[in-house]
Amino acid sequence: MTGLLGVDEKTLKQVLAGWGPGKFDAVVFMDGKATRPDGGSGATLIPPAFGLAGVNLHTFTGWGSVTYWNAFVANLEMHGKGTFYDPRLKNAAQYPVAAKAGFDEVRSSEDLITSKLAALHFYQLAIPAPVPPKGSFDGAAATRGQLVFNGPGKCSSCHVPPLFTEPGWNMHTPAEIGIDDFQANRSPDKRYRTTPLKGLFAHQKGGFYHDGRFATPKDVVNHYNKYFSLGLTDKQAGDLAEYLKSL
Ligand code: HEC
Repeated sequence: MTGLLGVDEKTLKQVLAGWGPGKFDAVVFMDGKATRPDGGSGATLIPPAFGLAGVNLHTFTGWGSVTYWNAFVANLEMHGKGTFYDPRLKNAAQYPVAAKAGFDEVRSSEDLITSKLAALHFYQLAIPAPVPPKGSFDGAAATRGQLVFNGPGKCSSCHVPPLFTEPGWNMHTPAEIGIDDFQANRSPDKRYRTTPLKGLFAHQKGGFYHDGRFATPKDVVNHYNKYFSLGLTDKQAGDLAEYLKSL
């Protein structure tokens, strides 16, 4: 790993320790960018592995589906014997580490991975999102919040129920959602994926958005309220946050 990234062991350990709990940086092995321009870690939260049936792209900045990442991790991050192909990784300007290491094309004399991908994919898509336990949200407020979500909050234009992401190419520019472009620019599509919201209650610990920048669902709502000039009252914003916790 030190050889791949061209750094010494001390630096590598510092980078890994900087990720923090529940975070991972899959892209540092491709672009070698360990830190954001502000010096913070370039790691993102680990996205939920549940509720992905019907969802086109799997991670915060797209790249590919569940099966794409299975092939990527098994072949490249776990050094398995298999086949992997993604010519986007030949782009040396964006992915100097991957381009130099030849990540865009892996061929082995013996392929132990490809035959496992279908069954693994099928299993993963069958993992349902967990249902919020009784008492974990205010039911009356959540019912009112649903009307805000589908009405004046305009949330359902992107988070289309019941998938809560767009069927099709569910990607948006940083400007469309009012955040910086650091993490988006590390992906081939330079966009952020509309996060499917089912089972949101189950991963509140690390915060929300790809890097956990918003601590609570209410903070996310406040961001949209301001950025889109939605004019929601504080009560509507609170109801909407309860609805998010009920999904
Ligand atoms: C233009 C499309 C769009 C609209 C409109 C939109 N969202 Fe999002 N939403 C996104 C994208 C893209 C992300 C991923 C951001 C990231 O990962 O940094 C996201 C992320 C989120 C998250 C974080 C989920 C998580 O697990 O981290 C929540 C919660 C959320 N949106 C709720 C809402 C609500 C509530 C509204 C309405 C007020 C709304 N969104 C409107 C596109 C949209």
